[in-house]
Amino acid sequence: MPFVQFMETALYCPKIGYYERTHEVVGRAGDFYTSASAAPLFAELVAFQCAEWLLGLDDGRLMLVEAGAHDGGLARGILCWLKEHRADLFKRIQYWIVEPSEERKAWQKANLDEFAGQVWWVGALQDLPPVRGVILSNELVDALPVHCLAWNATARKWVELGVGIEGGRFIWLELPQPTFDSSTEMRLAGFEISPGLESILPDGFIIEISPAARQWWGSAAVKLERGYLLTVDYGLAAEQMLAPQRSRGTLRSYKHHRLVADVLENPGEQDITAHINFTQLQIAGEEAGLKTDPVLSQERFLGQIVRQTLANSTCFGGWNSKRAQQLQTLTHPEHLGRPFQVMVQHRP
Ligand SMILES: C[S@@+](CC[C@H](N)C(=O)[O-])C[C@H]1O[C@@H](n2cnc3c(N)ncnc32)[C@H](O)[C@@H]1O
Repeated sequence: MPFVQFMETALYCPKIGYYERTHEVVGRAGDFYTSASAAPLFAELVAFQCAEWLLGLDDGRLMLVEAGAHDGGLARGILCWLKEHRADLFKRIQYWIVEPSEERKAWQKANLDEFAGQVWWVGALQDLPPVRGVILSNELVDALPVHCLAWNATARKWVELGVGIEGGRFIWLELPQPTFDSSTEMRLAGFEISPGLESILPDGFIIEISPAARQWWGSAAVKLERGYLLTVDYGLAAEQMLAPQRSRGTLRSYKHHRLVADVLENPGEQDITAHINFTQLQIAGEEAGLKTDPVLSQERFLGQIVRQTLANSTCFGGWNSKRAQQLQTLTHPEHLGRPFQVMVQHRP
C-alpha cells in the first residue's frame, strides 16, 4: 500500500488506530508533549491573542473554531481564561470543535462538561457555518497523512514509496506508479525543482507531501469569512525541505518521549508525524484570498503576546513564578520555542 494509506490506518483506524485508542498518548504519561499539554500558560496566551483579534472584528456572533482538539484540553484552557478575564466577550463566543472521530468527541465532551451549551461539534470543516472569528489548531497538520517520494537520480524522477510485508515485518518498497497526481501536488506544495537542482539532488532524497493538509487548510480558508486562521506546528518552508541536511525527509515516530528508529514498527502503538510545509499552506490560503503574516517561531509569537499582556496586566492576571517557568518551557529555543513555528493568515 502507499505509505499515505499505512499512516492513515496506523493513526486513525477506528478502535485500534493510534489516535483512537486512548487520549493518554499526548502528555507526560504518553509519547510526546505538545505545548498545550506541557503548560497551561499556552492556552492562556492563545486565549489572550484570540480575544484581541475577536475584539477587533465587528460586533455580532463570533466563533472560535478548533481542530485537532484531541481530549479538549486546549479548548478548556482557552474557555476558562476567557470566562474569567473577558466575561463580556465570552458570552458572545461560540466555541466550535471540528472532530471527525466519535471517540475523540466523547473525550472532549467529558472534559468540556462545564461549558455545555457553549461548545458545538461538527464532523468536518464543510459543516461549519461561515466563520467570523478565529480557526485554530495546535499540532493538527503534522498528524495528517503524507505521501513519501524518493528521488531516483538515474531516471531523474520521483518515485512514490509504499509499504509491504517481508518475513512478518513491514518494509519500505518503491511503487511502480505514483498513486496521486504528484507533479500537481508538488507544484501546489511549492517544490520548485530546477534542472540545476535535479542534476545534483542525491539518489534516494526523500520529501513528504500531504494533499490532506493542503485540502484541510484550503477548506478552512474558504470557511473564514472574516478573521484569522492560525496553526502552531513543527514545520519548514518547501525550499528548506530540499536542503542537503533534510535528505532523509522529516517523517518521525515517537514512543514514550523517544524517537523510534523504524516508523513502520508497531502500527497503532507509536506516533507518526511529518513536518508541515508552510509554503503549501500559504499557497492554499492565498488561493482562497487570505493574507499571510510572516511565519514566526513560537518563541517570537508568544513573546509578542506576553508584551501585550504586560501592557494590559489587569486583564491577563499577574506573572507569578509558575507562569514564568511555563513561559521558559514554551519559549526556550532549545525546548519548544524554536522547533515550533506559528502560521497566521487572515481575511480583513
Ligand atoms: C498531535 S495531536 C494534537 C493534540 C492537541 N491539539 C494538543 O495540542 O495537545 C493531533 C490531533 O489531531 C487529530 N486529528 C487528526 N486529523 C484530524 C482532522 N481531520 N480533524 C480534526 N482532528 C484531527 C488527531 O486525532 C489528534 O487528536
